[in-house]
Amino acid sequence: MTTTTTPVFATGLEGVIACATRLSDVDGINGKLVFAGFNAVDLAEQKTIEEVWFLLHNGHLPDAGELAAFKAKVELLGRPSTKEIRLMKSLRAGEPLSAFRSILSAIASNRGYKPWLNRDVAEVEHELLSLSALAPAIVEVIHTGRTPVKKPANSGYAERYLWGVLGHKPDDAARQAVETYLILTMDHGLNASTFAGRVCASTGADVGAAITAAVGTLSGPLHGGAPGPVLDMLDAIGTPEAAKGWVAAQLAGKRRIMGFGHRVYRTEDPRARTLRKVSERQNGPRIALALAVEKEVLAALDAHQQKKAGEGKSIRALRVNVEFWTAVALEHAGIPRQLYSSTFCTSRIIGWSEHIREQLKDNKLFRPLSHYSGPSVSDLS
Ligand SMILES: CC(C)(COP(=O)(O)OP(=O)(O)OC[C@H]1O[C@@H](n2cnc3c(N)ncnc32)[C@H](O)[C@@H]1OP(=O)(O)O)[C@@H](O)C(=O)NCCC(=O)NCCS
Repeated sequence: MTTTTTPVFATGLEGVIACATRLSDVDGINGKLVFAGFNAVDLAEQKTIEEVWFLLHNGHLPDAGELAAFKAKVELLGRPSTKEIRLMKSLRAGEPLSAFRSILSAIASNRGYKPWLNRDVAEVEHELLSLSALAPAIVEVIHTGRTPVKKPANSGYAERYLWGVLGHKPDDAARQAVETYLILTMDHGLNASTFAGRVCASTGADVGAAITAAVGTLSGPLHGGAPGPVLDMLDAIGTPEAAKGWVAAQLAGKRRIMGFGHRVYRTEDPRARTLRKVSERQNGPRIALALAVEKEVLAALDAHQQKKAGEGKSIRALRVNVEFWTAVALEHAGIPRQLYSSTFCTSRIIGWSEHIREQLKDNKLFRPLSHYSGPSVSDLS
């Protein structure tokens, strides 16, 4: 018997559940984020990237032996070959996120990664892990134009990333701040980039193509691209006293304030709260301005939304999101703003890879419907 269901029309697929995942759960009403059964904020404050990566990869936290073996594997896979370093150098010109996308795609192609359908799953999973492990070295070559400096074999993923960007061993506070950020942003349900990666993988495509599709979505400021513009905004505001007037002018001009609003969170983004604490601990030169701007923006957005509600328009709660406090924490750690989106890639590539693994283990081609809104059919004659 054929069953038919009435299609649901949801612009932007808002409110639609498109796949199941064991990786993360975003509770937008209560402002909670869970990674594989653990509170993501607790993990970010108490664990290393490799521990959380192992958790997403295997479904449980590692014991000491498992962690040592996983760390060593990621470190080894994170060393590009001489030929790959040459390739990275040849493609590093231009905007860093675009360079990251091109390099990743070129490496996967040079390694001969093939469509995953009908292939040995373990082999495809190894390709995913290999690409993810390479991310810090890719960012380092994009930033410096040089062969990655040799780091101690026991350095962690976050330390290697920051070392590559700063050009020296990072101090513990900066490493810790960046590690917290990288863990918090490792995965986040079916966000735009993860969805793009899963859609691409659902066709049986090679994993290089699927990850490249995910990276492509980050070039817009609505997903992952806001931290750089947040710093531009702080620069433009300049002083805490100027915040109120600046924000009012933006809203009057119907412009969006970067680092605020979220598709899923209706309360404070828990990642923003943690990174605010990180930024306060760093106590860098931006902190007073950032706190003042956050306060003014929240008050102005609230007033703006109340006014809209009074006019009978539908509204949603607009709170600070992860990208506002990412900007401050990463700047205080010494990372230049043009690298923020590619830094995000070094964390989210782990989530993308794990989602792609899930996709290929229980694959169903993504193929939603569209509602035809064109003219009615005319006779050609
Ligand atoms: C993230 C974002 C795209 C989520 O949007 P969404 O939940 O899909 O909501 P919409 O884009 O449909 O916007 C809904 C309304 O809220 C307003 N709005 C949303 N975010 C806003 C912001 N940051 N500043 C001002 N107004 C905002 C929109 O203008 C829109 O108003 P309208 O109904 O009068 O047109 C949106 O909040 C945004 O653009 N934020 C700024 C960019 C940013 O920080 N990105 C990083 C996200 S982690």
